[in-house]
Amino acid sequence: MLRRALRPGPSGDRTPVGVAALQVAGVTVRYREVVALEDVHLEVGVGEACGLVGMNGSGKSTLFRTVVGLQRAAAGEVRVLGRGVDRARAEGLIGYVPQQDEIDRDFPVSVRDVVLMGRYHRMGPTRAPRAGDDRAVAAALDRVGLADLAGRRIGRLSGGQRQRVLLARALAQDAAVLLLDEPFTGLDVTSQASVEGVLREFVAAGGSVLVSTHDLASLPQLCSRSVLLHRRVLASGPTAQVLTPENLARTFGLDVPATGGAP
Ligand SMILES: Nc1ncnc2c1ncn2[C@@H]1O[C@H](COP(=O)(O)OP(=O)(O)OP(=O)(O)O)[C@@H](O)[C@H]1O
Ligand SMILES: [Mg+2]
Repeated sequence: MLRRALRPGPSGDRTPVGVAALQVAGVTVRYREVVALEDVHLEVGVGEACGLVGMNGSGKSTLFRTVVGLQRAAAGEVRVLGRGVDRARAEGLIGYVPQQDEIDRDFPVSVRDVVLMGRYHRMGPTRAPRAGDDRAVAAALDRVGLADLAGRRIGRLSGGQRQRVLLARALAQDAAVLLLDEPFTGLDVTSQASVEGVLREFVAAGGSVLVSTHDLASLPQLCSRSVLLHRRVLASGPTAQVLTPENLARTFGLDVPATGGAP
């Protein structure tokens, strides 16, 4: 049963009652002749974490990019807490941790500066941080265990540390919906456990999460619901019911026994 907004998200009452955190309805995305997503439907409830699973090239990153408005859909609609994507972005409702980060390694900014970018939508045109912005940045860095590296140049971090900086940026933003595209890739077991803990806390506080991962073992503890994607949604629902051997075989393009119910 999808949970709908009955209480405020982590950052206050911005959630109309009865509205899902994320609704993707009939979305089709094409890159010239490649159909990356076809008639995709999914919903993430408020205070819910949903896992997104699919093989390489199945359209996961395309889906995230479409939800944040970086990729145009040829058909269909995306709503975030009842708003269109542009409005939701302008209100800072969507925190996005991309699979490939867009920050130039040679760009002379500190870890603190990158996390502060998550506050830009609240700052005026001068982008002068106020005390509340500095506090939010410090708290976010603390939550991902990077407080000690706040002053370091972003280019001088390891890959796993950079991943956590991007999560801190999304947390500092005080977003209501977090979209994380393979956030565990490159993380050691300790860092992964700590990031999972941060996400669970976020959800417990009423936030909503859509997270793609190839780590199926951690999915049941992290996500109450999951979606299997292969250009189209192959299965969705409670994680334990979705992650069946048969469904996974279809999702990863393996041979399915004749009785397996393949389409
Ligand atoms: N900018 C692009 N231009 C053309 N085709 C693209 C582009 N980006 C992705 N594609 C194609 O769209 C399909 C979906 O790609 P996408 O990156 O969304 O997959 P993914 O599920 O995120 O894969 P991975 O697990 O490797 O990250 C693939 O066939 C891919 O080759
Ligand atoms: Mg991807």
